[in-house]
Formats: sequence, C-alpha cells, structure tokens
Amino acid sequence: MSEFAKIELDGKFYEFPIIEGTEGEKAIDIRTLRATTGHVTLDSGFGNTGSTFSEITFLNGETGILRYRGYPIEQLAEQSSFQEVAYLLNFGKLPSERELNSFKELINSFSTLHEGEKKIIEAFPTSAHPMGVIGSVVGSLSAYYPEYNLPMLTDEQRRKAIAQLMAQVKSIIPYFYRMTQGLEPVKSKPHMGYAADFLNMMYGSDDYEVNPEVAKALDVLLILHADHEQNCSASTVRLVGSSHANVFASISSGIYALWGQLHGGANQAVLEMLQNIHDNGGDYKKYLEKAKDKNDPFRLMGFGHRVYKNFDPRAKIIKKACDSVLESLGVSDPLLDIARGLEEEALKDPYFVERKLYPNVDFYSGIIYQALGIPTNMFTAMFVLGRLPGWLAQWKEMKEDPNARIGRPRQIYTGANERMYVPIDQR
Ligand code: ACO
Repeated sequence: MSEFAKIELDGKFYEFPIIEGTEGEKAIDIRTLRATTGHVTLDSGFGNTGSTFSEITFLNGETGILRYRGYPIEQLAEQSSFQEVAYLLNFGKLPSERELNSFKELINSFSTLHEGEKKIIEAFPTSAHPMGVIGSVVGSLSAYYPEYNLPMLTDEQRRKAIAQLMAQVKSIIPYFYRMTQGLEPVKSKPHMGYAADFLNMMYGSDDYEVNPEVAKALDVLLILHADHEQNCSASTVRLVGSSHANVFASISSGIYALWGQLHGGANQAVLEMLQNIHDNGGDYKKYLEKAKDKNDPFRLMGFGHRVYKNFDPRAKIIKKACDSVLESLGVSDPLLDIARGLEEEALKDPYFVERKLYPNVDFYSGIIYQALGIPTNMFTAMFVLGRLPGWLAQWKEMKEDPNARIGRPRQIYTGANERMYVPIDQR
C-alpha cells in the first residue's frame, strides 16, 4: 500500500509520496513541492535532506551500523583488504581473484608520477600544508590526462580514472613528504601491496623494511575511512561532478572539503589537542570543562558526529587497533593515556551523554598515525588516501544515474527589498 504525507498550506491539502530505502528508512519525496505549492524547504546543514538514492554505503547512527554494499565494516576490516574494498565500493560486488588481480594491475600501472606533477610538487614551499599540495596536484591531473576531461566517460575510462587516482595519490603524498624532509624520492614498488608500497615510498631506504603488522594496521585504517555516504566531502564531489566538471576537479574539491577541522581535519586537531593537554600538565578534566563552556570556543576534537548518536563503529575498531599497533611497535604513548582518560570522563559526563557525543573515527586514528611515524600535518592526507575509493564510487554512481541533475539548492532570501541606486557623490 502506498503511503503519502499530507501538507496543508493556505487551506489546501497536498500529498507527497513516502519512499522507503532497503533498510527501512523513510523519506517524504518533495521533488514536486515547489512546482505544486510554490514553497521550498529550509534545512541548513542538510540534516534532514536526502540528496540522492545510493546503493553504496549504509549507516545507522542510532545503532552504530556501517556497511559497504551490505558488508559490515567489522568483517571487511578483519578479513578484506583496502584494494578489495575499493573494488567493492566502486563495482558493487566482491571481486573474484582474477577481477581483483586485474584491478590491482591497473592501479599498479599508474604508480609513476608524471614529470610535470613532480615539478608542481617541487614548486611548493616545504612548509605547505599537504592537503593544499595534494588538492592542487590532483586538480592538475586534468592537464596530463585530458582524455578524462570529457563530461561523460565510458565504463573503461571510469575504471581507469579510478585506478589512476588511487595510484597517483599513493605516490603524491610520499613524494611531497620526502621533499619536506630533504630526502630523495623512493620509487613505487606496487607488488609490495598498497599500504606497504606507500610506507616504503615514505620511509624506504637501504635498511628500511616494511613491518607487515604496521602495513596491515594501515590497510585496516584505510578500509575504515573508505566511504561514509553523503558527508561533506562526498557531497562536494557529487555537487562538483553534477556540473559535468571532470573527475579530477571533483575529487580535488572533495580533498579541500575534507581539510576542514569539523571534517577530516579533525584527526590533526585531535593530536594537537592531546599534545597541548600533555604539554600543559596533562589535566584533561580542565579541557572537558572548557569544551562544555558555551563562552569558550574550544570543542573536544574527535568527539561528536552528525549521524552517529550512540557510537561510531569505526572508532571501536580503531581503538583496538591502536592498542595492538603500539604494542607491536613497542611504543608507549602518553597521549593515548590522555585520550583514554578524556573518553572515560566524557562518557559519564551529562553534557556529553545528553548530547550523544562519542569518540568518532578521528579520536584514536592520529595516535596510530603518530606511531607509524606520519607527521601530524599529514594525518588528513592519510584520510584522503583512505577516502578516495569512496569519493570515486560516489562520483561514478552519480555519473551513471540517468536522472542525475546539476546540484542547485534554493535559499530563503533575507536581504534588502528593491531600492534605488544612489550615485557615490550623493551618499
Ligand atoms: N565538544 C563539545 N561540544 C560539542 C562537540 C564537541 N566536540 N560536538 C558537539 N557539541 C555540542 C554543541 O555545542 C551543541 O551543543 P548545544 O546543543 O548545547 O548547542 C551540540 O553538541 C550539538 O552539536 P552540533 O554542532 O549542532 O552538531 P553537528 O551535528 O552540527 O556537528 C560535528 C557534528 C561537526 C562532528 C561536531 O560534533 C564537532 O564539531 N565535533 C568536533 C570535530 C570533529 O571531531 N569532527 C570530525 C567528525 S568525523 C568526520 O568528519 C570524519
């Protein structure tokens, strides 16, 4: 039986269909609202607005569920690999061994940076924030691969663009990192595996050997970050792509959207916050009070989430991974104790409990990145590496949707009414 929502406006009733997703979430389909009633909706921050149908990722913020293409994140983190997850997100199914190998080979074939890209990276000051560098270099790829600049790509071109971006970003980040350290770049050895090749390009030298446990931990982190449905950066990728801007422009915009502290930039902010608490004597309870004080702009970074209102399933896995990585590396980090203390206090504090504020994916990830030797200002770049397949899957789904329209929200204008121009000498 079809259901409708009834709206009464100026004494007239209008009906709008209720549509239901495969996991039972219901939405009022208001696509005809403005045409039939002359009204629009107002939803700042889009907290109540579905912008698209999507088959990629399901999450339930109340029960702490996250699934890629139906597969629980816990199972993927434990049993899958990042490249397999990237295939799953983009092509909708778990690959056969042959399909996965051919996808990996395609990625591997794009691992070398173009000479022009290297020059662009080298033109940046070593003090540049990595996110600005990566966004620029990814945007510049449209100059080197003009065949993907077309508004509509073939299936094969899309497949190549996905593999190419996954390979290139894996090489761009270490290239810039080594430049900032005054070190020669290390060539990609893609047969090592995605995470291990990345680590080797970051730290490789004659006596450097990739610790398989560290590579595994990084692979799991990348899986956990791989997609998160219509968040700020994914929505940006879709919005930019909806104008038929090319894939590099779309992904580059996603990178810039991720940079902000309220989104991917939180992982850097968390570590800086923990370090700051540590440097100021370690009294984390004082910082909890600051976070609660409405006259103080300080927020507990790595806490709270627009969607998760119970727990973030990724944070649970990362917290466990954090313990085992530190143990296997024989590292003890005082910041981890501060993080644990903050979490424990916050979880029993009415301010955080009432507002349903829990640790999110970024609360513990920085501690792992630090243990892996990643500099703090590169944490958000690591998020880019992980989120790429998700952005690409969102972009691909949008491009394949025959009903996709250019993204164009409305507004409620609150400015001046019509008034007459006054020449400058009469003001
Ligand atoms: N510390 C202290 N108070 C907080 C925090 C926090 N981290 N997060 C939310 N609150 C409070 C707000 O002040 C507000 O209180 P009020 O109702 O008394 O005014 C209430 O909780 C609701 O917060 P909103 O900002 O309205 O929630 P929103 O859904 O818009 O924001 C966000 C979510 C941006 C994640 C927010 O919780 C935050 O700023 N967290 C810290 C930054 C962070 O960790 N971001 C990473 C998110 S995960 C990701 O993007 C990968």
